[in-house]
Amino acid sequence: MFERFPNQWTPVLPLTAITANPMPVELAGEALVLFKDRDDQWHALRDYCPHRGAKLSLGVVTDEGHLRCGYHGWRFNGEGACQAVPLNCLNDAALKKVRATALPTRLIAGAIWVYTAADPDNANAPEPLLSESLQGDPNLFVTYHQEWQAHWTRAQENFIDFAHPPYLHEQTIGAWMHDYAERGGTARVETEDTEFGLIMMSYVGSSTSGFQLHWHRPNLSILHFGPVAERWLHVFCIPVNEHHTRVMTVRRVRSADEVARHARYASGTDHRILDEDRAIVESQSGDVLSDPAEISVATDKPTLVFRDWYRATLADYITP
Ligand code: FES
Ligand SMILES: [Fe+2]
Repeated sequence: MFERFPNQWTPVLPLTAITANPMPVELAGEALVLFKDRDDQWHALRDYCPHRGAKLSLGVVTDEGHLRCGYHGWRFNGEGACQAVPLNCLNDAALKKVRATALPTRLIAGAIWVYTAADPDNANAPEPLLSESLQGDPNLFVTYHQEWQAHWTRAQENFIDFAHPPYLHEQTIGAWMHDYAERGGTARVETEDTEFGLIMMSYVGSSTSGFQLHWHRPNLSILHFGPVAERWLHVFCIPVNEHHTRVMTVRRVRSADEVARHARYASGTDHRILDEDRAIVESQSGDVLSDPAEISVATDKPTLVFRDWYRATLADYITP
């Protein structure tokens, strides 16, 4: 599974987008079903019943918190173990052999996260390497999301790209740099490799822009607009399939009272800025490796670091 996005922790859906239990969702080209058991724990299974291949998301969650297939009523727990095969008296040994494919799942920062195990039967998932700013009570995060018709790597590069705001965001967040760039001003970026990915510092002329950006492998960009985590914008580029990406912003808030106000802000401001990005990114085709003739310059350094990581990650799983 997940041969184009193997062995990564990623959010799949914000809680606010979950409208059913069980909930079908596509992640990196794989059909999954999310469901919540009676202890309010979330689980993800491949949306495929091992009996006759029906979609498990067409079933129901039973009072015991098991997912019951809508076709013949086979029941699975959150680990994928079959709990019952109605009308047939299977002994324990036979029942134990029946399994749906389960993936490690967590509730983090207002979203359901899944580990994209390339070999789910032998998954030895590491714990997610989480930015501290995403830890804590999952109810104290505000999410906003959009669906883009683009490959996730194109979307991801957009958020670690320092040279586009003066033009693409000329009317909004890039206004301050537009005239400077048009007058022939220069900018540069410096990157630092870290345990989680990279840190980018940017300079306009000879002074720092005051803006710092972190890329956390595989698909999180954190835009630092100030010293405290409540001023940071987290942006995830979640691969839906080869042609679609779910772009999700996440903000941490201090208390539950602030959630509604920040949600209004996100659906206004984030929506407007992301729409500017979306229009351009949707005009690019394929993934970031699809055109080897693309020309890169010094301010493209962070995206080149990302490309190196992406190329290496795929190389381990895809035979050319
Ligand atoms: S297909 Fe699911 S129980 Fe038969
Ligand atoms: Fe942008």
